[in-house]
Amino acid sequence: AADLGSDIKEVLYTEEQVHQRVVELAAQIDADYQDREVVLVGVLNGAVMTLADLCRSMNSHMTMDWMAVSSYGVGTTSSGVVRILKDLSGSIEGKDVLIVEDIIDTGLTLSYLLQNLSSRDPNSLEVMAMFRKPPALTSSVDVKYVGFDIPNEFVVGYGLDYAGHYRNLTDVATLAPHVYS
Ligand code: PRP
Ligand code: MN
Ligand code: MG
Repeated sequence: AADLGSDIKEVLYTEEQVHQRVVELAAQIDADYQDREVVLVGVLNGAVMTLADLCRSMNSHMTMDWMAVSSYGVGTTSSGVVRILKDLSGSIEGKDVLIVEDIIDTGLTLSYLLQNLSSRDPNSLEVMAMFRKPPALTSSVDVKYVGFDIPNEFVVGYGLDYAGHYRNLTDVATLAPHVYS
């Protein structure tokens, strides 16, 4: 199998830097929720690593559930029309829900999820995202917990993919030009 590392141009965040930030956010989440039990809703596939690490850095009761969504896009631009491929397994009515994302780019996926999940009458609905790109800052999505605001560059690793690959890279990095050609 081809070696992942040879496709990397530049590491932007090391595994250690990401882990340290996850620990900080987990402590903040523990403090904010106190005796309220949170349902972590991970957005497949990208959020797998973030959710797995976040919940193990928390020191309070939680449950997890997962959604898979797909945006109908033309080419590489997202249309904002989102389709549910896999819905939550359980009801979130009256629950304290925290959506967990690896990255927010345009914010279109998230704005759809916020609208969809809020219609199910949770007690509260917040968002944690490990990375956030500048376009999301100009869209209207409100993200309570952000790992890192990052440059508007294409990055992979820690759940983030290029054509389904590189999610298992432990650092977050840009890709070498030869990957795209
Ligand atoms: C990526 C990422 C977010 C979304 C962010 O998921 O994991 O879910 O895009 O983009 P947006 O803010 O512009 O909507 P993707 O749809 O690529 O699926 P994946 O998680 O399976 O990679
Ligand atoms: Mn995703
Ligand atoms: Mg993706």
